[in-house]
This record gives sequence, C-alpha cells and structure tokens, in this order.
Amino acid sequence: MRKKIVAGNWKMNLSLNEAFNLIDALVENLQLGILKNTKVIVAPSFAFLHPISGRLRNTIALAAQNCSENNNGAYTGDVSAEMLKDCNVSYVILGHSERRKYHFESDEQINLKLKKALSTNLIPIFCIGETIEERESNKYFQVVKTQLIKGLADINLSNASNIIIAYEPVWAIGTGKTATPQQAQEMHAFIRNEIKNLYNDLLANTIHILYGGSCNAQNALELFKCEDIDGGLIGGASLKANDFIKIIEAAEKA
Ligand code: PGA
Repeated sequence: MRKKIVAGNWKMNLSLNEAFNLIDALVENLQLGILKNTKVIVAPSFAFLHPISGRLRNTIALAAQNCSENNNGAYTGDVSAEMLKDCNVSYVILGHSERRKYHFESDEQINLKLKKALSTNLIPIFCIGETIEERESNKYFQVVKTQLIKGLADINLSNASNIIIAYEPVWAIGTGKTATPQQAQEMHAFIRNEIKNLYNDLLANTIHILYGGSCNAQNALELFKCEDIDGGLIGGASLKANDFIKIIEAAEKA
C-alpha cells in the first residue's frame, strides 16, 4: 500500500508574513494528529525556506522549487542542492513546466539536476506533462515517455522512496481545467508501466506518482481515489490554509 503525498507548490507567491500565517495555520491543524496515511510537503520560495523551516514542528516536510545541477561556483542567482540541505530541505521540485517554459530547461539539464539532487540525498519531485497541442494531436503518451526516459537517463534507482514523479498536464496548470480522473488515471498507469520497463516491478509498484494541475478541494477526492494516483502537487489551492487542509483530508479519505 502506497501512502498518499500532498505537496503544496507556493511558486512566487506570498510575503514572509503571509507565509508564516499559512504555515502556522497548517501546522496547528496537523498537530492535532489527524494524519495516518498522508505525507504533507510545502515548497516556499528559496528566500523563505530557512525561516519557514523553524516553524514546522515535524508535521510538514520542506521542498525547494528548483536547484542547480552544479556543486558551487560562479553561478549568479543559482542555489545548490547542498545549500538546500543546510536549510532543512528534504525534497526538490525539478522539471516543472514553468522552469521548462520560462527558463528553457531541457530534459538533459533536468537529468543533471535529478542526478545532483539524488547524490545530495534530496528527494526530487520530478514533473512531466504534455501541452494542449500535444494532447490534441494525440502525442501525449509519447511526449511523457520521452520526458521520463531522458529525465531518468543513467539514473540508477534502488529504492522508490528516493524519487517522486508528478504528472502535470501543462494545459491544466493554473487554468482551472483539471484532467478528468479517467484522463489522469490513464496517464498514471502508463507512467507506472514505463517505470516498470525502465526499472522493475517492485519499483513501479512502490513509486509515488502525484497528479498536478488545478487540483482543488472539490476535485481532489475523486482524483486521489484512482488506483495509480498517489496524491497531488498543488499550486493555487495550496495558498489558502482551509483549501489545502481539505485536500489533505481528501488524501486521508481516498
Ligand atoms: P495549480 O499548479 O494547482 O495552480 O494548477 C500546480 C503546479 O503547477 O504544480
């Protein structure tokens, strides 16, 4: 049985005060001990990782939204995996479609970042997903397969808990257009099968595959009930404590 994972991707949102208020509300709620079967992760901006890390009280794990593929050196504006470890970060989102689109991150660069994160003992949340054009031209399975194969090239995974995959159809991110549970389940099953082809049955059966893209308090339960959906990567709906808690409760229930 795979546990559920709910991860909030705050993107470039919230002031420090707003971030403190949000995390304090979440921690207060989760400290009541309601969670048996769900892991909760939040990904604030780099600037707030360290201040937020002091307020988590072992209820929530911390993720960064990106990291450099390099160790250290003259890379102005970049943040290394080691620096994230120093801020009590355990997870790192890599290959998000916004990084691919606005920062031209290629599958090859994402592969290097995944290797760097893994060798630093950070758990990557590796994002893949097709655009609307790719879906409408029926190329979506091939696109996702290529992202998986190139992203994971030469990566030897011995344990499924070392990585999380997030299927995020680009057309669903921030648009209010969620994939239907059927569309999401179909792709998650496909991804699990590709992991089996790349690695083995055990890894495929135990790896977590999250859904992301306009997942919210209303649609989370239906999505999370699907056999191959192990939780969600949540953008907009992770910025309000009440909504995010409802999504966490949906994961517990599913
Ligand atoms: P969204 O974002 O929930 O706002 O669609 C999800 C994501 O980009 O991770």
